[in-house]
Amino acid sequence: MKIIDLRSDTVTLPTPQMMDAIREAPLGDDVVKADPTVNALQEKTARLFGTESSLLVSSGTQGNLISVMAHCHHGDEIILETEAHLYYYEVGNIAAIAGVMPRLIKGDRGTFTGHQVQEAVRGDDLHFPPARLLEIENTHNRAGGTCWTPSQVADAARAAHDLGMKVHIDGARIFNASVALDVDVKEYSRHVDSIQFCLSKGLSCPVGSLVVGNYEFIESCRKKRKMVGGGLRQAGIIAAPGIVALDTMIGRLKEDHDNAKHLAQTLSQLDALSIDLASVQTNIVVVDVTATGISDDEFRAEARKRGLCVSSFGPGKVRLVTHYGISREDVDRAASIIEDMVTE
Ligand SMILES: Cc1ncc(COP(=O)(O)O)c(C=O)c1O
Repeated sequence: MKIIDLRSDTVTLPTPQMMDAIREAPLGDDVVKADPTVNALQEKTARLFGTESSLLVSSGTQGNLISVMAHCHHGDEIILETEAHLYYYEVGNIAAIAGVMPRLIKGDRGTFTGHQVQEAVRGDDLHFPPARLLEIENTHNRAGGTCWTPSQVADAARAAHDLGMKVHIDGARIFNASVALDVDVKEYSRHVDSIQFCLSKGLSCPVGSLVVGNYEFIESCRKKRKMVGGGLRQAGIIAAPGIVALDTMIGRLKEDHDNAKHLAQTLSQLDALSIDLASVQTNIVVVDVTATGISDDEFRAEARKRGLCVSSFGPGKVRLVTHYGISREDVDRAASIIEDMVTE
């Protein structure tokens, strides 16, 4: 039985072209900036985002962490959304390692306004930590892969900058947003100080993320990356598939979005399931299974027995993610497995 794995776009395997690129990549020691393949990927990325510089890092978590460390000092405040990945899923690293204090904004499907930023910043007072950094997540994972428009980013970033803060985007899936809204990623980068995006999600690379920003910021990130053990040597074997990804894997994300919408529309016809269709903007479908009478964990386990992998997504919710390697037929089969489950 073929297993249909919709747990995450992180389960994607490298394409044959990526495997060839890994084998053929010219290599060197990247800690001393001497890996030509890493340098080529970083230059290409900086051009794509219109920034001065960029840096290859091991993961999204590492990219976000070192960005926070480069922007903030211990004791500073970071403002972010209540369900931000950086707050929810990154092991408390911003507190444990970066030593910053989170202050949360309740978003609307993951987004918030400049006015909310102004309200969240408490100002200069003996009692308060200095608000140093605003973090925006685009697309927003726990909100269901929802997109920020460039003008929403501009509004929030302007408010933060006017208050003397820097702005970082956790753009693990920023290309999903740019494809869904048909906007260039430069329309995001021009409003903010840094962006982290992942190669290892919808772009299907085995490993890696990049951080983009100005030269000074990226050199500070390079130092923090070394500090947290992320200085890699012949990292060209990671960069080589990244170059292939940027050349070949961005446009096809639309197929994942279309499959996710199709899946969500099919599942939403089942009475026992509830889906916020307006939040299905990219490749993520969050399904409320409460009315089935079984828990999200039971739902996940039962689906697994029938050849479908989904992930638990908090009480009563499961998440399904479309990606490279998942066809329209797979999505239809996933929907019929779930239909059988909930109607039996
Ligand atoms: C929005 C978001 N940010 C950051 C990350 C962390 O990326 P990584 O798993 O590469 O550390 C993820 C991973 O799923 C994510 O969804």
